[in-house]
Amino acid sequence: KEIRIIGVPSDLGQGRRGVDMGPSAIRYAGLEAALKHLGYQVKDLGNINVPTPEMHEQAQNAKLRYLNEVKAVSESLCGMVSTVVSEGHIPLVLGGDHSIAIGSLAGMAQSSTNYGVIWFDAHGDMNTAETTPSGNIHGMPLAVSLGYGHDDLISIGGVTPKVKPENVVLVGIRSIDADEAKLIAKAGIRCYTMSEIDQRGMAVVMEEAIQIATNGTDGIHLSLDLDALDPTLAPGVGTPVNGGVTYREGHLAMEMLSASNAIVSVDVVEVNPILDEQNRTALMAVELVESLFGKTVL
Ligand code: ARG
Ligand code: MN
Ligand code: MN
Ligand code: MN
Repeated sequence: KEIRIIGVPSDLGQGRRGVDMGPSAIRYAGLEAALKHLGYQVKDLGNINVPTPEMHEQAQNAKLRYLNEVKAVSESLCGMVSTVVSEGHIPLVLGGDHSIAIGSLAGMAQSSTNYGVIWFDAHGDMNTAETTPSGNIHGMPLAVSLGYGHDDLISIGGVTPKVKPENVVLVGIRSIDADEAKLIAKAGIRCYTMSEIDQRGMAVVMEEAIQIATNGTDGIHLSLDLDALDPTLAPGVGTPVNGGVTYREGHLAMEMLSASNAIVSVDVVEVNPILDEQNRTALMAVELVESLFGKTVL
């Protein structure tokens, strides 16, 4: 399989400007060379066109900030992802904030791949307009993909939901809003909190997560939010939460996903170079992607 890099320089889904520079930061950190070194054929398809927030008035208290713009970006990403998958390649989508996953999962669904999702994140991203404390759509993409949320978002790509709840897993979770927790329970998705990772270990958790995401599917979409990692390792994110995944746990998780041979598409999101220190969060992202695509010591 070949890898197709798609940049989505969007900060429409959250309030901390700078995450729109994520694709550049990850490219500068050496992504393409690293993947080629691992033996992959890689093509960078460039960036999707994203409107800048300054182009559009938006009420600060809106319940779905930049809804129309997020919808337009999601639709173009959806088309690109579904084309890449239909050509038999692996889309590697660089965010941008996590709202971009609405488009990648819609594209996966449109390509009629039967897939599961591993959502590696400090957050559940299971809010709707009714439950969001911020109005930021980056807190909603998993809910949208499961069919909960605004019609304009859940209808993207023509298929709703984009993934079956029994094949969805959250890993690394340590920040959930009160009403968001209710939707996680209602949707019936498996949620591995940091506390469960502490108690049972990342190896056991990932073994189960891979089992859930591959059960009856043709592969796994990994949505990798860099804020899953501890902020000491990944300071360049807009919504850091203490007590995250360690360096070793992060790599172990990626190595186990690599060994599963099940990865069909990937998002790498929330890298914000303005908040970062010497691009280390982007470098961390590239390192994790290397493990995900098979880098080993020997
Ligand atoms: N739960 C908060 C919200 O909905 C934070 C979401 C953070 N999401 C993310 N992809 N970093 O506003
Ligand atoms: Mn805009
Ligand atoms: Mn997220
Ligand atoms: Mn997050």
